Amino acid sequence: MKVLLVGSGGREHALAWGLAASERCDALYCAPGNAGIESCAECVDIKVDDVEALVDFAKDQAIDLVVVGPEGPLVVGLVDALKAAGIAVFGPDKKAAQLEGSKGFMKDLCAKYAIPTAGYGRFTDFHAAQKFIEDQPGNVVVKADGLAAGKGVIMCNNKAEAIEAAREMLSGGSFGAAGAEIVIEEFMDGEELSYFALADGRSVLPLSSAQDHKRAFDGDEGPNTGGMGAYSPAHLMTPEMEAEILERIIEPTIKGMAAEGCPFTGVLYAGIMVVDGRPKLLEYNVRFGDPECQPLMMRLQGDLLEILDAAAHGRLAEIADQVSWSEKVALCVVMATKGYPGSYPKNTPISGLDDTAEIKDVTVFHAGTARDADGQIVSTGGRVLGVTAVGESIAEAQRRAYMAVNKINWPNGFCRRDIGWRALEAEQAA
Ligand code: AMP
Ligand code: GLY
Repeated sequence: MKVLLVGSGGREHALAWGLAASERCDALYCAPGNAGIESCAECVDIKVDDVEALVDFAKDQAIDLVVVGPEGPLVVGLVDALKAAGIAVFGPDKKAAQLEGSKGFMKDLCAKYAIPTAGYGRFTDFHAAQKFIEDQPGNVVVKADGLAAGKGVIMCNNKAEAIEAAREMLSGGSFGAAGAEIVIEEFMDGEELSYFALADGRSVLPLSSAQDHKRAFDGDEGPNTGGMGAYSPAHLMTPEMEAEILERIIEPTIKGMAAEGCPFTGVLYAGIMVVDGRPKLLEYNVRFGDPECQPLMMRLQGDLLEILDAAAHGRLAEIADQVSWSEKVALCVVMATKGYPGSYPKNTPISGLDDTAEIKDVTVFHAGTARDADGQIVSTGGRVLGVTAVGESIAEAQRRAYMAVNKINWPNGFCRRDIGWRALEAEQAA
């Protein structure tokens, strides 16, 4: 098969690594890719949101399957355009991508199909929003309806803050058009985990769980980021919890989407809040998490291309027995450019990457990297590397990941030193 992967982050490097290992993969292209993806795919210089150029490339190269990594192109209809051109694709179409693209759409679906989630209201009018906030018994979270690069969620400590956040969003001051409509929801107190499942429009194929660290600094302090590290499986996950997530959250969603005339194909990433031991849905994403994808791919046993191709063709039920998960733990430490998630320099040199090969069961996935004119690896983004290790325990995976981090020489980079701390505490207490 000839495969085109769309994206350029650590998630896409992990997907490229998995796809390239498939016996069925004859050629793998990645648009636009990065300096790490070059080692397993041919990178083509097309941006992820250039729908026309992606469709043209897929037609010209007679691509058999397109795999879309990030949400942006899904929400604007890349899948619809590819399908219209007769090209098979893994990912939801524009209507189904609303599960991530519109928080109001997602909440309405949950309400209609009795999926456990926080109570909410949808608003375009400030005065109605203000009244709703005043009437709530506790604290609320104010969210821009549309995509806001993970920043459109304001956790409010009191009603005044919530009213101000609603005013700012609805006036278009923060988040522009994405905030023209808002969702206000009840604050849920608990610990978060992520759960991933594939769907082919009708059937669900459960994948596995992960937990990420969104804050920039150790101890889960500092500003929110896209994710500074992740591990899989989530230490909170139990077989009972997984069954409940599938039965009460994932399956009704996939059935509901089909009933609403927008069947979902692709990967459904459920952000779950565990409240008093029970799972409640925080949000849906319609793609793999980044960095959660990196540890997931290191635990996946089975042919990734075969699995994604089956999802794209409505054949998930046929291949369910070909998917299994390593019993081991995988853990990814993100190395970011100093300054991230604020402003940061670009083109800073990174060396020592080859030395990480000495450490067993470690893969360094690249996110924001490129090669300069001399072939030297340089940083080009905020999150730059995902140093991912597998171990028998969270302690072993963590130790290996940080041994590899310590081999990397990048004066402009930083990472958290405590990825997996909750799981480690739980493991040590057990
Ligand atoms: P979302 O993009 O909707 O997942 O929100 C981003 C983050 O905000 C989540 O991962 C949670 O940490 C937090 N969050 C969102 N909604 C709620 C809620 N209703 N209660 C508590 N925390 C929330
Ligand atoms: N790591 C969070 C996300 O991919 O949205």
